[in-house]
Amino acid sequence: MGYKETYANWQADPESFWMQAAEAISWDKKPTRALDDSNAPLYEWFSDGVMNTCYNALDWHVDAGNGDRVAIIHDSPMTHSTHEITYAEMRDRVASLAGALRAKGVEKGDRVIIYMPMVPEAVEAMLACARIGAIHSVVFGGFAANELATRIDDATPKAIIAASCGLEPGRVIHYKPLIDGAIEMAAHKPEFCVIFQREQEVAEMTARDVDWHAFQYGVEPADCVPMQGNDPLYILYTSGTTGQPKGVIRHNGGHAVALHWTMKNIYDVNPGEVFWAASDVGWVVGHSYIAYGPLIYGATMVVFEGKPVGTPDAGTFWRVIEDHKVVSFFTAPTAFRAIKREDPGGELVKKYDLSSLRHLFLAGERADSDTIIWAQQQLGIPVIDHWWQTETGYAIAANPAGLELLPVKLGSPTVPMPGYDVRVLGDDGHEVPRGELGAIAIKLPLPPGTLPNLWNAEDRFRKSYLDTFPGYYETGDAGMIDDDGYIYIMARTDDVINVAGHRLSTGAMEEVLSGHPDVAECAVIGVADDLKGQLPVGFLCLNAGCARAHGDIVKECIKLVREKIGPVAAFKIATVVDRLPKTRSGKVLRGTMAAIADGRSWKMPATIDDPVILDEITAALRNIGYPAG
Ligand code: COA
Ligand code: AMP
Repeated sequence: MGYKETYANWQADPESFWMQAAEAISWDKKPTRALDDSNAPLYEWFSDGVMNTCYNALDWHVDAGNGDRVAIIHDSPMTHSTHEITYAEMRDRVASLAGALRAKGVEKGDRVIIYMPMVPEAVEAMLACARIGAIHSVVFGGFAANELATRIDDATPKAIIAASCGLEPGRVIHYKPLIDGAIEMAAHKPEFCVIFQREQEVAEMTARDVDWHAFQYGVEPADCVPMQGNDPLYILYTSGTTGQPKGVIRHNGGHAVALHWTMKNIYDVNPGEVFWAASDVGWVVGHSYIAYGPLIYGATMVVFEGKPVGTPDAGTFWRVIEDHKVVSFFTAPTAFRAIKREDPGGELVKKYDLSSLRHLFLAGERADSDTIIWAQQQLGIPVIDHWWQTETGYAIAANPAGLELLPVKLGSPTVPMPGYDVRVLGDDGHEVPRGELGAIAIKLPLPPGTLPNLWNAEDRFRKSYLDTFPGYYETGDAGMIDDDGYIYIMARTDDVINVAGHRLSTGAMEEVLSGHPDVAECAVIGVADDLKGQLPVGFLCLNAGCARAHGDIVKECIKLVREKIGPVAAFKIATVVDRLPKTRSGKVLRGTMAAIADGRSWKMPATIDDPVILDEITAALRNIGYPAG
C-alpha cells in the first residue's frame, strides 16, 4: 500500500488504523480502544492496555529465539574500541541493573535521572527503569550543573544514574563534580547515585554514591512490571521560551506502537538489519532511534561515541557504515556540513564500501539544499529530510521510504505522516491558502506516542500548545504547504533557536546574562551560521555609569552562559550596545535584529519607538562581523 492510500486509511478511521498498528507489539492485556478522549483537549492512547516497553525491546526478541542477534554495537573512536551486545546479554544486564535499583527502593512511578555519555550503559539504564516502571529523565551531558539542578528540582528523582566522565575531543568531561554540584544547588536531594566508573576517569565516591557493578552484586534480577498504556515511560526536558525547561512526558503504549510503525514505514529497516542514528541519548532522536525504536523492532543499533569530524577525520561516518553494514543512517544536517567543509570533494567517501546503505535521513534543523545535494552526489542514495520535535517523539512529516518513496523536493521534509493533520494558520486562526506562510498547527488529537502533557505543568502545556489555536496543537514552527501537499518549515515563531541541531532557548540565555552585575538589559538572537545553522549572539546594555572595559564584561558574560547553561549553548559572541530597539509597548525587536544580522531585507516596524536605534544596532553588528561575508 502506498503513501496516499495509507494516509487516507488513517484519515477515514484513525481508531482502526492505530488498533491495527498496536497488533505489532506485545501486550499483557490488549487495549480495548486506541484513543481516550475523556479529558479532551488532553488526549491519551491505549489507556487500558497493559504492556512493558522493556519487554518489547528485549525479552520478546529473546523469547522468540533471537537472543543471539546483536542488539547494540558500541563504536567509540573516543576510546578506540568497538563491541557488540546481543539481545540475550542485554536482557540479562538490564534485568540485573533493574533488580539492583528495585533493591534500593526504586518503584513504579519513581523518577530516575540519567546523565551519561554515549555508552551502552546509558541505554541499559533507560531500559532498566522501563523494566520496573520507573520514569527516566535523561539529561544531555553538554548541559552544566545548573541545568541539571533545574531538572532535579522539577522531576524530584529518587536516584541519579551517571557515568564518571564523558569524552569530548581533547578533554575529559568530569561528570561527578557536575552531579555533586547540581545536587548541592537543587532543593530536592536524590536518595542515591549510581556511578558507572569509566576507565578514562575513576570518580571519587561520596556516601550517597553506589558503584554500578558493586550494587548489582548478589541481587535478584527484576522481571518486567506490567504498565498501563498511559503510564509514563520517560520525561525529556526541552527548551521553551524561558529558562525553565519543559518536561515532555512520553507514555508507554502509544510510544511503542508508533515507533514500531515508523521503523519499517519511514526508515525501511527490517528486523536484524543495522540502523544508526548519530545523535545523543540526551536528545529525542537518541531516545526514539538510539534506544527504543530499533530495539522494539528487533533491529541492531549503533551507539556511537565520537564526532563526524576530528575523531579521527571526516571519514568516520563512512567507516562506521562500512564496518557495521548500516542500512539506514540518521543524523543532523550540521554534521554533514562539518564533513563537507573538511572533505568537499568527497575523497574520504570514496575510500569506503557504502553499498549496505539504502537511505540517509536528516532532521533536527532545516536541511539546506547545498547539504542535501552534496550528500546525494556523494552517496548516490535518497537523502530524506524529515521534520519532528521533542514533543512528538517521531516524524510529523517525512518521505516514507518503506511505504513508498515520494519525489524529493529540496527544502521540504515532504508530507505529513498518518496521525498528523497538518494545517497552516494565519493570525486569525483560519487556514491560509496553499503556498502562503503561516503558523504550522496540527489538528487535535495528536497521534499515539506524542506528548500527552508536560510534567507538573498542565497550565503551561495548555498555554504553550493548545490555547492559541483552539482545536489544534501549535508546533511553534512557521512555514507553508504547497499545491502537492508538501510541507516547508521556515522558522520558529518563538524564542527557540537551533544550534548544531541542538534546540536552545534564547530566553534562558538572557536570564543568565541579566544575572551579570553590570548588565541592565539584554537580548539574545539567533544568527545564521554556515556550520551550525544558527549561533546565539548577545546584546548587552550596561548599567548607567558602568566604567569597566566592555571586553572584560563580554568575556565574563560568555563564561557565565557556559557555566550556567553549558558548552552546548555555543554562546561565544556578544557585544555592548547603548540601547535595544523596542516597540512602543516595550517589546524588544529580536526578529528585526536577527534579520539585520543575517543581511536579510527587513521592513521598518511601524510600532518601533525610535528608528535611530536600528542604525546603532546595525553598526554594533558590523563591528562583530555581521552580516557575515
Ligand atoms: N558533553 C560535554 N560537552 C559537550 C557535549 C557533551 N555530550 N556535546 C557537545 N559538547 C561541547 C562541545 O565539546 C563544544 O565545546 P567547545 O565550545 O569547548 O568546543 C560545545 O559543547 C558545542 O558543541 P557543538 O555545538 O555540538 O559543537 P562541536 O564542535 O562539538 O560539534 C557538530 C559540531 C556539528 C559536529 C556536532 O554538533 C554534531 O554532530 N551535531 C549533530 C547534532 C545532533 O546529533 N542533533 C540531534 C538531532 S539529529
Ligand atoms: P527538537 O525538539 O530538539 O527536536 O527541535 C525541534 C525543532 O527543530 C522543530 O520545532 C523545528 O524548529 C526544528 N526542526 C526539526 N527538524 C526539522 C526539519 N527537518 N526542518 C526544519 N526544522 C526542523
